[in-house]
Amino acid sequence: MNFRCINCGAINSGDPSSSPFCQSCGDLTEWVMEKAPTVSGLLPPPQEFTLWRYASLLPGIDEGGIVSLSEGGTPLQYSDGLAGAVGIDELFIKNEGRNPTGSFKDRGMSVAMTLARSAGYTSSICASTGNTAASMAAYSAKAGMKAFVIVPKGKVTRAKLKQSAIYGAMVLEVEGNFDAALDIVREMSGSGGPAIMNSINPYRIEGQKTGAFEVCDQLSSAPDWLLIPVGNGGNLTAYWKGFNEFRSIGAVTSLPRLVAVQAEGASPLASSFNEGSSTLIPVDKPETIATAIRIGRPANWKRAMKAIRDSNGLAVTVDDREIVKARELVAGKEGSLVELASASTVAAAIKLKKQGAIRKEETVVCVTTGNGLKDIDEAEAPDTVIIRSAGELQMILTGKKK
Ligand code: F0G
Repeated sequence: MNFRCINCGAINSGDPSSSPFCQSCGDLTEWVMEKAPTVSGLLPPPQEFTLWRYASLLPGIDEGGIVSLSEGGTPLQYSDGLAGAVGIDELFIKNEGRNPTGSFKDRGMSVAMTLARSAGYTSSICASTGNTAASMAAYSAKAGMKAFVIVPKGKVTRAKLKQSAIYGAMVLEVEGNFDAALDIVREMSGSGGPAIMNSINPYRIEGQKTGAFEVCDQLSSAPDWLLIPVGNGGNLTAYWKGFNEFRSIGAVTSLPRLVAVQAEGASPLASSFNEGSSTLIPVDKPETIATAIRIGRPANWKRAMKAIRDSNGLAVTVDDREIVKARELVAGKEGSLVELASASTVAAAIKLKKQGAIRKEETVVCVTTGNGLKDIDEAEAPDTVIIRSAGELQMILTGKKK
């Protein structure tokens, strides 16, 4: 390949990765295309892949009235490294952090905001551990609506709080946890106030079920297992609805087994399910490093429990140390930085594989619900090495200095 000097025009043919400079004058070089393709040789521009591709499976929406930031269409990622480390041949992550505001909430928010606006609402409200807030703030901005978010004081990551505020939301804090914030929102129902945008709003579930449609389309079938982090249980409910609907229209022939994943210190659903309780055993003081799922009274516990049971699924807890380790594993093997709450699913896959509940040859999807860039408050500054010269760098590269 040829590289032309941007200064003297000399053609260089060396390896630009090791010596990017012109051999004649030392300036920078640029790649020279030897034979340009014809326009007809270019690939057609891809059609945008968003959740609106499934509009016919969503509640009726006026043409042209959609409030969208191009949500959905997130990648289903595979990596040999991650699959090998976990010991499951067909291990995928559904990378929901690639949504416009960095979490799966955008799916539900797009649908719910569209319907709220067309119903005439001019403001929106939610309780949140951070992601719902950021998503609602963004979609409200797009819809031209006022946004009010209520969050547990001191327990939402800086990035998520800032994100909500920059989109223009009013951020309100409660002295309690998420459950206390949601209690306040519940009290607003029927008051004629802002549209309620938590996952107790059925339109949220409708948007989020499209995640299940995409997983099926991307695999050309339903997976054997789907692991999903659970806070309120809305997303698990939504995926189960989506898989069932896709099967009922004949798009897939099977259903996955669902695994509800919770953090050990905030696991009301997993404990209740595993104890065989028919009611929810709440956790008064939920605590976990994965603040997104720090919830003691999941609003959707009834349908989430039913979904686990109906899918012949499981409920699993993982501790904070396992969660942090799994985040590093996904980042180090797959190159994707996911939220702590999201990494819990990979920690659970490791656990279930070790226990023999999941077999090596089964197809497993971990839903990584949020982008890790929003969730690094707890991470300590990494160990770094100071260098003063290329000579010193050379010593490090050759292992003579650590
Ligand atoms: N993963 C992430 C990154 C989340 O932010 C949440 C919920 C969940 C998983 C759990 O989803 O509640 O449907 O079971 N976050 C909510 C919020 C509570 O306010 O952002 P769920």
